[in-house]
Amino acid sequence: MVPPTDPNRVLIFDTTLRDGEQSPGCSMNLSEKLEMAHALQELGVDVIEAGFPIASPGDFESVQAIAREVRGPIIAGLARCNKADIEKAAAAIKDAEKPRIHLFLATSAIHREFKLRMSREEIVKRTIESVKMAREYCEDIEFSPEDASRTELEFLAEVCERALECGATTLNIPDTVGYSVPSHYADIMRYLKKNVRGIEKAILSVHCHNDLGLAVANSLAALMEGARQVECTINGIGERAGNCALEEVVMALQTRKDFFNLQTGINTRLLFPTSRKLTTTTGMMVQRNKAIVGQNAFAHEAGIHQDGMLKERSTYEIMRPEDVGISKTELVLGKHSGRHALKDRIQELGYHLDDTQLQKVFDAFKILADRKKTIYDADIEALCENLLHTG
Ligand code: KIV
Ligand code: ZN
Repeated sequence: MVPPTDPNRVLIFDTTLRDGEQSPGCSMNLSEKLEMAHALQELGVDVIEAGFPIASPGDFESVQAIAREVRGPIIAGLARCNKADIEKAAAAIKDAEKPRIHLFLATSAIHREFKLRMSREEIVKRTIESVKMAREYCEDIEFSPEDASRTELEFLAEVCERALECGATTLNIPDTVGYSVPSHYADIMRYLKKNVRGIEKAILSVHCHNDLGLAVANSLAALMEGARQVECTINGIGERAGNCALEEVVMALQTRKDFFNLQTGINTRLLFPTSRKLTTTTGMMVQRNKAIVGQNAFAHEAGIHQDGMLKERSTYEIMRPEDVGISKTELVLGKHSGRHALKDRIQELGYHLDDTQLQKVFDAFKILADRKKTIYDADIEALCENLLHTG
């Protein structure tokens, strides 16, 4: 892939359909994957990792169908560093407008010793052979040293350099087990930029898992060190605690443009609809207080906050809900709410009460809110009707 001409442009590599789909409870069939891929294309992602073609015949067919149908983004297929995987991935993505093979091979001592039973020399040799082989099928090759964040730095640099020499065009540094913390991850990026020959010609990419709840923070730290591709998933779905959440990293970059001075090609107004599409497709709900797309992300209950919001939104809102595709801020009525928010809701419901009437409804509302967790509009209407009919 040709790197973007704008040095401040961050590429969004969406792996909802591959790493995300590996999450228990998130598997999707061909038509579901295809529909999601179209939604991701509309959202404006730069790369769709459509699946792991060798994993199953169904995954092969899904990647192939997405490669044939979805135009715009690069379509990537994942492969381990072996002939059979590379051939399958190459066959699955070959009809894409912009195909990519994504190769991975673990480099950390733990993985070398216990999983692969390979020496450092064998890892280097396999990297060279595999990147060369993949290049015979495709010009756009991404290479990932799996478990990079637990790999000895000088060995990591050596493997990365060999991959680039053999024709890898994107170098992705995975924090496979979510072990890193932001300053550690930034150190790795700095080290690689200094010690890997040819790295300036490649796109440096980040791929963070969320085991310590740091996937977004680690990704942002890497972007600050010059990474220009971030791998992420809708709603942060993925293995174990998940991957870097696309909506969070995108909105962090947008909301704090003053700080990062970076931009993506995402149409942020489609973030919430895309999140909803994924939850309805997989049945995997997002937690209520999830940043950006959770039910409470733009809801305010405390009286002081509601009062501030009614006077000026920016007092308690750093983003506008409309900008992520949520119709409006919700002022939730509960026991913490104040008179101002109640009055506002009563007016919205079409009642015009004088101050004495409002005080009576407010007192009744507080008693009700102590008993009941959720106060619905129907409850407020009942309180108003009761007052108007009984005084
Ligand atoms: O987490 C990881 O290391 C991966 C690789 C395949 C990139 O998902
Ligand atoms: Zn991963």
